[in-house]
Amino acid sequence: MQGLKADLLRGCWYLAMLSSDLAPGKTVAKTLLGEPVLFARQADGHVFAIRDACPHRGIPLRYGNFDGKTVGCCYHGWRFDESGTCTEIPSLREDQSVDFSKIRCGSYPVVDRQGVIWIYMGVDGEAPEDGPMTEPPSMPGFAADDAPKAAIKLPFPCSTDHAAFGLMDPTHAAFVHTSWWFKKDATKLRPKEKKFEPSELGWRMVRHPIPPQNIAYKIFGQNVSTEIAYRLPGYRIEHIEGSKHVVVGLTAITPVTDEATEVHQIFWASAGWLKPLRPLTQHLMTVFLDQDRRVVVQQREGLEQGNKTMLINDADTQARWWMRVKGEWMQSQADGRAFVNPLKPQTLRWRS
Ligand code: FES
Ligand SMILES: [Fe+2]
Repeated sequence: MQGLKADLLRGCWYLAMLSSDLAPGKTVAKTLLGEPVLFARQADGHVFAIRDACPHRGIPLRYGNFDGKTVGCCYHGWRFDESGTCTEIPSLREDQSVDFSKIRCGSYPVVDRQGVIWIYMGVDGEAPEDGPMTEPPSMPGFAADDAPKAAIKLPFPCSTDHAAFGLMDPTHAAFVHTSWWFKKDATKLRPKEKKFEPSELGWRMVRHPIPPQNIAYKIFGQNVSTEIAYRLPGYRIEHIEGSKHVVVGLTAITPVTDEATEVHQIFWASAGWLKPLRPLTQHLMTVFLDQDRRVVVQQREGLEQGNKTMLINDADTQARWWMRVKGEWMQSQADGRAFVNPLKPQTLRWRS
């Protein structure tokens, strides 16, 4: 946590990209957890992901071609199917045989749901064909084919730990998220008190009503309430519900390497809503997220000089929880046992 790098969690589902970023018949290459991955969408819409490295000479497969079903290497034309198994070696003569099943680049389980492509990054030695025991997170109240209404992403030049701390930091907004139309004055801090409880792979701020004078009432209708869940390996899921509308906001931090992160912010909203406002919404989301990005760029400067960091109560208690659940996740894997949530319900107080 102190330095530039973070431990990366394995055996987890990560958000790779929006479904709309991968058209049928196309591929997208990405680095995730330091591994080169090539995503492809077959002509029938089915998505797969293979390791972006040809087992023949190690060249990235992204430089090759995709025929809508299999990926061909640019060097000698070997082809690989969705399981990462070689299906063709053009140089072979009729009397030469090779066991294709032994020539593999490796593949990853993927799920294409709710407009998002999720990828499972298994633990060492876990065979992808065994399949993950878990499911990627699902946005409550939305169907499998409900696409997001607004989405942005930004590269954060920091580890997932520092990205996560920013995500769950309740006291930076007045200083970082300022603009002429929003929170102009950081001196007017108010006391806050919120209840938290353990939840799946993390914790949540217990569902609470939003006061009727809040602007949310104009948008969501009556009896507006919100719940925010934080869970491994790096998701903040906010669920706002009123008599008229429901919105789920997902912020996902996906490790590119142990010191670089991609942050996605995605909103699902009840039918017919938000779509006309998409350009404005996405602009404001980008302005906000870029404010978070700018501070981690500045923080990196300090960390590169070897500066130490600290955590205080209660403002940084959630950062402590992050390190605790993460520690338990890694320990449970090392011990070969199930994850046991180490957190207890707690009320946190701060000024923001
Ligand atoms: S390097 Fe890929 S086919 Fe030879
Ligand atoms: Fe922020």
